[in-house]
Amino acid sequence: SDFLHVGNKLLGWYKENARDLPFRKTKDPYKIWICEIVFQQTRIAQGLNHYNNFIRRFPDVKSLASAEEDEVLLHWKGLGYYSRAINIHKAAQQIMTDFDGVFPARYEDILQLKGVGKYTAAAVSSICFNGRMPAVDGNFYRVLSRVFADDFDISGSKAFAYFSQLATLVMPENVGDFNQAMMDLGSEICKPKNPLCEKCPLKDDCLAFAVNKVSEFPVKTKK
Ligand code: ADE
Repeated sequence: SDFLHVGNKLLGWYKENARDLPFRKTKDPYKIWICEIVFQQTRIAQGLNHYNNFIRRFPDVKSLASAEEDEVLLHWKGLGYYSRAINIHKAAQQIMTDFDGVFPARYEDILQLKGVGKYTAAAVSSICFNGRMPAVDGNFYRVLSRVFADDFDISGSKAFAYFSQLATLVMPENVGDFNQAMMDLGSEICKPKNPLCEKCPLKDDCLAFAVNKVSEFPVKTKK
């Protein structure tokens, strides 16, 4: 479809412009999981040292599961939102008891882990296991609403399902790279304020850009 062509263009851009990040050198689901939990709420530049230190002290599920909660919290210090640290500690223990210490590969199983939502489950399953789920977050809402000049309200409870469906139409074969390309495009080019449309690989496909209304998307009626 013509939708797919948008996803393929994005992939082509990503191959040339992917940010060089330590967690992009691995497909270890444990490391990708930790990175998604850390960097969903913390900027990369701000959290990278913490992430590296955390992985050095807890290099795998087993070392994290057997640690004392106090020590896990100590290594999370500075990242904030401490419930995330308590949840990953519990989830590591869950992997030991429910999955024999092996990180689960299925989206539905990953979703069972404490503190893991649809975004994280989709990111880990696509990046590490070729799962076919879009990792829908604010970047997806912004990029897709602009490309299609789609005024679907992102503050409503139906937004996640709506943009997940739209993402599925755009999604190429390599979903792991596609998801990460959306994260990079959303944070570096298709930014909430002052987007760099002239540099955007989707410039020629973007309906909002074509009608000079990029700043009107996404539509958000409630705060
Ligand atoms: N933020 C959260 N996860 C990320 C990833 N895999 N790549 C880039 N930014 C991210």
